[in-house]
Amino acid sequence: MHGILFKGLKDFVVETYDRATWRQLQEAAGVGGRRYVPVSAYPDEELVALVEVAVDHTGIEQSELLRTFGRYVVPTLVDMYGIFIDDAWTGLDLIENVEGAIHHVLRNSDSLKYEPPEISATRVDTDIVLVTYGSRRGLCAVALGLLEGIGDYYDEPLEVFEHRCRHEGASSCELVAVGDGTNPLQANRLVHDHLEAT
Ligand code: HEM
Repeated sequence: MHGILFKGLKDFVVETYDRATWRQLQEAAGVGGRRYVPVSAYPDEELVALVEVAVDHTGIEQSELLRTFGRYVVPTLVDMYGIFIDDAWTGLDLIENVEGAIHHVLRNSDSLKYEPPEISATRVDTDIVLVTYGSRRGLCAVALGLLEGIGDYYDEPLEVFEHRCRHEGASSCELVAVGDGTNPLQANRLVHDHLEAT
């Protein structure tokens, strides 16, 4: 996994708790003293181990912790990869275009070994984007947080929920971001109808 996510996790822990807590988590995860820089990649297992000890340490449920982290890390991602983002986009436009404009480009870049997940996004209605995520990493909670973080970043109230989840037996996770012009219940029905029809 890319260093930017590790660096994001460290900043998140230091800002929410403090530096000593980060050091403790690193020790407990068996990666004491390791420095994470945003231009390198590190084993996925290290992130998993850090998250596991963070769950033990804070008592926060894993999915909630991952979601909060995803929400927190958006400004860092946008700062670093803003070059791929069209200034005219709204938050929902960005979500709709993440795969084509960012993840796909990073995956195919040869400067660093990037492995962002393949996601697909559909504009089900003006105010509704359906995102399908099926990564082997199973980080749909992070993805939900990223969607919320994009809403925060654009100061666009977005209701974000998971329509179906791989952790509950679905073939992939279906995440929905809804703008404030549409009621989430109505959005859920439109997403359901859309999926039935395709
Ligand atoms: C602000 C726009 C975004 C940028 C710049 C961005 C960029 C990235 C980068 C650099 C990584 C690390 C890849 C690696 O480790 O090699 C990543 C991972 C990830 N991205 Fe994005 N991303 C964005 C938005 C999104 C959105 C909207 C979603 C889904 C709703 C998403 C889902 C994920 C997930 C879940 C991961 C963790 C790795 C995995 O699950 O396989 N990203 N992204």
